[in-house]
Amino acid sequence: MLGALSTKVFGRRTIEIHDCIDSTNSRLKELALAGAEEGSLVAAETQTQGRGRLGRTWHSPPLYNLYFSLLLTELPPVESRPLVTLVAGLAAAEAVLMLTGRRPGLKWPNDLLLDGRKIAGLLAELDSSKAGREFVVLGVGLNVNLDYENLPPELKDQAGSLFMATGRRWDRIEVLAALLWHLENDLTALKEGRIDGLLRRYRTFCQTLGARVEIAQGADRIRGLAVEVDDCGRLVIECSDTGRLIQVNAGEVTLIKGRP
Ligand code: BTN
Repeated sequence: MLGALSTKVFGRRTIEIHDCIDSTNSRLKELALAGAEEGSLVAAETQTQGRGRLGRTWHSPPLYNLYFSLLLTELPPVESRPLVTLVAGLAAAEAVLMLTGRRPGLKWPNDLLLDGRKIAGLLAELDSSKAGREFVVLGVGLNVNLDYENLPPELKDQAGSLFMATGRRWDRIEVLAALLWHLENDLTALKEGRIDGLLRRYRTFCQTLGARVEIAQGADRIRGLAVEVDDCGRLVIECSDTGRLIQVNAGEVTLIKGRP
């Protein structure tokens, strides 16, 4: 592992690698509350309760993929914290581009797509429970060598992998090392306030921009044109019915075909 790594901190502190665990995010949170340092890492071959965004589960079969969580204790200023999610997605997109030469897309905020299929998801969980020590556990699930036949029926139309997009098998350690390098680079730039360049690069990957979308926020639905990702990382929607601009902080985006 260390041989492939070119980071300074990420993946070079406490490391745990499990054959099977409930969720790498849950385990890393325990380590963080016990004092683990910035850049600590928990990875697993398989997860029994992998968590996704918006309360979903993350399908985590063994052998093919990457499931890991990274601890961020040195956080950017409060006003740029919402950008951690987007910048982590940017880093994953840039790692995939560097490795494969294929340009992935990002569905706002950070679903990573290749050939229109979701190949990775990122879950950033902020913990402020311990006074004076806020931290973020950033969980990454990337489908590496998963093949179509390994997908459960409900994911067959939606999920992809590096293998499915490129036709070759990937060394998971090499992929992990590339992800950690881009995450360290881009999250350091965020901490140092180099936000304009990060957002400019994020927007070039973001396939949601210019699309007609529906955003689900609980029981509410917003329909309209995604016109901008603003400097706070919010998706700006021009509403179909009123023409008003609405800034969306969170929610599930669905692209709509035809006129909404
Ligand atoms: C999403 O819904 O798109 C985010 C998925 C995040 C999954 C990863 S897998 C490793 C880490 N541990 C978890 O329980 N979830 C994240």
